[in-house]
Amino acid sequence: MRSAPHRPVGPDYTGWLPGVDDLCYGGDYNPEQWPEEVWEQDVTLMREAGVNLVSVGIFSWALLEPREGELDLGWLDRLLDLLHGHGIKVDLGTPTASPPAWFFHTYPDARVVTRDGTVLGFGSRGMASPSHPAYREAAVRITTALAERYGDHPAVVLWHVHNEYGAPVSEDYSPASATAFRRWLRERHGSLDALNAAWGTRFWGQVYGEWEHVGVPAAAPSIVNPAQRLDFARFTDDALLACFVAERDAIRAHSDRPVTTNFMAAACPATDLWKWGREVDIVSNDHYLTAADPRNQVGLALAADLTRSVAGGKPWMLLEHSTSGVNWQERNVAKRPGEMARNALSHLGRGADAIMFFQWRASRSGAEKFHSAMLPHAGTSSRVWREVVELGETLRGVREVRGARVHADVAILWDQESFWAQDLEWRPSVDARHRERVDAFYDRLWRDGLTTDFAHPEQDLSPYRLVVAPASYLLTADAAANLTRYVESGGTLLVSFFSAVVDEHDAVHPGGFLGPLRRALGVAVEEFLPLRAGETLGVRFEAAPGTDGAGRVDTPGTGAVVRGDVWADDLALEGADVVGRFVGGPADGAPAVTRHRLGAGTGWYVSTRLDVDALATLLAPVYDDAGLAPSGLATDVEVVRRHADDAQYVVALNHSDAEQKVPDLPDGTVDLVSGDRVVGAATIPPAGFRVLRSPAR
Ligand code: GLA
Repeated sequence: MRSAPHRPVGPDYTGWLPGVDDLCYGGDYNPEQWPEEVWEQDVTLMREAGVNLVSVGIFSWALLEPREGELDLGWLDRLLDLLHGHGIKVDLGTPTASPPAWFFHTYPDARVVTRDGTVLGFGSRGMASPSHPAYREAAVRITTALAERYGDHPAVVLWHVHNEYGAPVSEDYSPASATAFRRWLRERHGSLDALNAAWGTRFWGQVYGEWEHVGVPAAAPSIVNPAQRLDFARFTDDALLACFVAERDAIRAHSDRPVTTNFMAAACPATDLWKWGREVDIVSNDHYLTAADPRNQVGLALAADLTRSVAGGKPWMLLEHSTSGVNWQERNVAKRPGEMARNALSHLGRGADAIMFFQWRASRSGAEKFHSAMLPHAGTSSRVWREVVELGETLRGVREVRGARVHADVAILWDQESFWAQDLEWRPSVDARHRERVDAFYDRLWRDGLTTDFAHPEQDLSPYRLVVAPASYLLTADAAANLTRYVESGGTLLVSFFSAVVDEHDAVHPGGFLGPLRRALGVAVEEFLPLRAGETLGVRFEAAPGTDGAGRVDTPGTGAVVRGDVWADDLALEGADVVGRFVGGPADGAPAVTRHRLGAGTGWYVSTRLDVDALATLLAPVYDDAGLAPSGLATDVEVVRRHADDAQYVVALNHSDAEQKVPDLPDGTVDLVSGDRVVGAATIPPAGFRVLRSPAR
């Protein structure tokens, strides 16, 4: 199997951060922006807020190495000692996300070049070319200096390499990148013949006769070879990951503390987190709400569930979120009272054992002065500060949750390579967007109260009752075989349109669209029938056969007609039963939803885009097959559970303005914050939360 979830290659840090017996609470701390007198006030206030961990030095390269090879670590010595003196642990950054001015002056050809040839300048922050030898060398040098000096500092419990690899830029079209890309291609393909075959270069006369003629897929007269672009996305990810590994190994030579780098799960298209998860000691993530989305708690939950899945189910760290509004969206909506705590506790309920923010104290100058902070410009008399202090108290109250695991019966397939490929140009419809489908299916599951993992299509899927493939455009033969085995051995698989179309080279599968999944689904796609913009059609649900194969039984949703758009397929049945037929549209009367029994399981296929409400009709019989049922809770109530050997922890969040209830709590349930016993049902105050301990089931 290609990608298994989190398996650190270094020491096993299942015991959490060394010397930390608590949930972590804190944020990025950038005291170099302030006179040192302010530091004393900072640590006093940190104690008041219950802060026990801060991330330090992430953007400090220019101060730590003011001239090439000249170090000035005095201020960092004083800072770490001060924090240590106040019992605050440190997540020590390597500052390599923002090389100093001298670096770009000395190595101008290490600047990133965009696809259209723009050379990116200094004066902001951001990567140098990840493939430029001078950048790699300078990054490892400053990292080594920090690891030598602070590798066993008593305050340092974690290393924070770089910052959000892949942002703000990832792809680099510079000459250094082109050289490295050719090297990478030689390793991947072995020979030019193999490369020509994989890229299908006979099309449009692109056959290469010399390695030196192969270049980066920069802007060209028409669209660039999609297989070349897909390989470039893989190469870019590998180049970034190589930078991380180089720094991580430099740290490991001098320090036995765990190493992480903060991911942007579900928000950074450049990184294949299944790969990255294997290289870090502890998985960590940053998450910011999409202000424009009034139900952005669902996107938050998705990112948290993806992070936990990348961590292989182990506890992970939320290294950044915001106390209120950010500063980089179009309209930076402030969080309303209680929202910050609910956000933090949703992450906690979904497996985070660290709740951290960007940043501790709001910056007076620079690009992020309008970003919220734990200590806002308004100071300690503000609502945000009071809620920060309250959240610190809450986390102390619920600290026994640390280490408990989340269990999910459902997995959504997530494969970055497939997303890279689907995002390229000249696909059958611009409306067939992978992220939109992932979000819609996830939202349905969220509303139905079903906790969801994400899974790579080649990983072991046997723990799940239901696997959803909302957007598996690129599906390797191995992945399809894995999914087919999953169905045969009793799983329920639901595949959405425009899946299993191409192989790892973006070449259409032999046997046509859906080719390698035909056995699992009992259906083939003869032709795509994309709809015009705004065009809709209906899907009428029919009774599916009984699970014993005998006679027809009423399935949930029978007779319902729902609306679809964007897509239809011309389907050829190869053993599947028709559960839904098109009403109108280019395939009027033809199969739209199919169900196929294979071995002990069932393979479902849906060939149009259903919105989140219509998905309820589709999923009712699918849940039936999988032995699942919606929780029945109100739509604005979010309940997630973490399980320990002797207890289960129920995190219940009320995203509405009315009081809500969580019913059917077992005897012996206790509110972890108030200590009160809860009998039968727990009420959740408007916009509020409860964290409960129940006996293990
Ligand atoms: C990112 C970065 C931080 C900060 C925040 C602002 O997550 O890692 O340095 O810029 O965004 O939201």
